[in-house]
Order: sequence, then structure tokens, then C-alpha cells
Amino acid sequence: MADIFEVGIVGSGIMGAGLAEVAARAGHDVVVRSRTTAGAEAVLAAIRAGLDRQVAKERMTGAESEAIVARVRATDHLGQLANCDLVIESVVEDLEVKKALFAELEQIVKPGGILATNTSTLPVVDLAMATQRPELVCGIHFFNPAPVMKLVEIVRPVTASAQTIERAVAFAERCGKDAVTVEDRAGFVVNALLFPYLNNAIRLCESGTASMESIDVAMQGGCGFPMGPFALLDLVGLDTSLAILDALYTEFKDPNYAAMPLLRRKVAAGQLGRKSGQGFYSYG
Ligand SMILES: NC(=O)c1ccc[n+]([C@@H]2O[C@H](COP(=O)([O-])OP(=O)(O)OC[C@H]3O[C@@H](n4cnc5c(N)ncnc54)[C@H](O)[C@@H]3O)[C@@H](O)[C@H]2O)c1
Repeated sequence: MADIFEVGIVGSGIMGAGLAEVAARAGHDVVVRSRTTAGAEAVLAAIRAGLDRQVAKERMTGAESEAIVARVRATDHLGQLANCDLVIESVVEDLEVKKALFAELEQIVKPGGILATNTSTLPVVDLAMATQRPELVCGIHFFNPAPVMKLVEIVRPVTASAQTIERAVAFAERCGKDAVTVEDRAGFVVNALLFPYLNNAIRLCESGTASMESIDVAMQGGCGFPMGPFALLDLVGLDTSLAILDALYTEFKDPNYAAMPLLRRKVAAGQLGRKSGQGFYSYG
């Protein structure tokens, strides 16, 4: 089975920076591509900040942290991904944007390179069919924050070869993650089960049953969840959450997936959660 050495990450948002850190910590050479130089620099700064926290907590030494950062190269040129054995795209959750990106990656990445998506819900087969190598396309779905969360869903579109899935599982395991292989259905396992809950939390609040603060306290204390649904929506990002619900509703037409109007209005207002400083809660 061909090994994975160099890993490319496309996208410099919440997940892109986390994926770059995870892959570099696993010993891979990593190229992260952002559309702007400022974005590329911001990824490196985010990785450094995360590693500094690990050093402060004495979970790694300063030398280890430096060695990890030295394995990451940030760029604003997609062409720098040419030599990657695996590219994981983690740009905005928009099917047309991702399809265009896969068509571009097809032209750039060397033959045999796996093209993977970190999509939360979108049909991976549509991305595979935007390339000339559908057998080498799969989903590698990390969770937020990527360096902390143990799970990775390996998503198998009908077009993927068994070897591609095996290589993706081996990569996730080398990153220290628990990999589960799932079929290519909107939401896979986790988001298909999680998002009706998050959406219904908004419904419950809007119906006047309890405030969002009370719902968050209730679900932490009553179910042992590390955070309540409103804090989690803000962490995921309200735009990403809305895109996930819309993709789930498009595929299954289940009313539990029909995004609550308040979520849509907040996204329209640019209130995207932690990343914009305002979501259901305010972040100073
Ligand atoms: N946020 C989460 O909790 C989470 C968890 C797992 C997977 N994901 C998935 O990861 C991906 C990225 O999510 P995120 O939370 O990092 O989002 P984000 O909003 O933090 O970052 C989005 C990135 O996409 C880039 N981008 C925006 N429009 C673009 C375009 N037209 N062309 C190219 N790049 C563009 C932005 O510059 C940014 O780098 C999505 O597919 C999302 O579903 C998100």
C-alpha cells in the first residue's frame, strides 16, 4: 500500500489550521494553502498558538513544538500541492466551490495522490466526479477542534477504491485518531444524529420552554455533555451549521433537518458564532 508522506491542506479557517497541526504532529510534511498571504500567515500563527499552549501545560517540549512548526509550509499558491500524496480540502461548506476546487486539484496534484474532503455533509461522489480519478477521492472528516477530538469519519463514495479507503484509515490512525468508515450519505453518522438535536434546541428556546442559557446548563448537567447546544453551534460556526442542515434536509426531507428561521437570520446578519465574535452568545 503506497504510503502517505506529504499532506496538503486547502483552507485556512477553523478546521484547516487544526488539520495542518494534526498532520504535522503525526510527522508529515504539510503544505497549507490559503487564498491570501495573510490567511497563510494566520494558519501558522494559529498552529504556533495551539502548540505554545501544549508547551505551557508541559505536554510537549519547546523543541518538539518547533519541530512540528518546521514541518508546515504555508502558501497562497495551489500549485505548491503538486507533490502531495494526500490533499484534504477544508474550504467553505459549498458544493459548487468544492467541485471547482477538486477540478483544479485534479490538474495539479501528482497521479496517485488522494484527493479528500473534510465536508460535514455534502455528497462526496459529486466531488469525485469533478475529477478524472474518482477512485482516489474520499471523505476524511475530522471534528472540531481537530487536534483534540478523537474521531475521524472516513467517507466511502461508491466510486472509491478499497485501497483509497485503506490508505485514508491508515492516515487517520497515524494521526492518533479513531477511524470509522461510513457510507456517503448526508451527515454521515455524527452530524446526521447531532444536527436534529441542535436544531430542536433552537426550536425549544423559541417556543419559550427555557432560555438558551438554561438549555445549555440542562444538557450539560442532565446528559453529561461537555457543552450545551448553543455553545456548540457557536463553536461549529452558524454558517457551517446552516449549510449542514440544508444539505441534510435536501437529502432526507426530514422536518427535524429544516433549519430554524432564527439560525438563518443570524447567518444573514453575519453572526456566525465564535469566529465572528457574535453568535448565540457574544465573544469579547
Ligand atoms: N466548523 C466545524 O466544526 C467543522 C467540523 C468538521 C468539518 N467541518 C468542515 O470543514 C470545512 C471548513 O469549515 P470551517 O469551520 O473551517 O470554516 P471557516 O469558515 O472557518 O473556514 C472556511 C475557509 O474556506 C475559505 N473559503 C471561503 N470561501 C471560499 C471560496 N469561495 N473558495 C475557496 N476558499 C474559500 C475561507 O477563506 C476559509 O479558509 C467545511 O467543509 C465544514 O463543513 C467543519
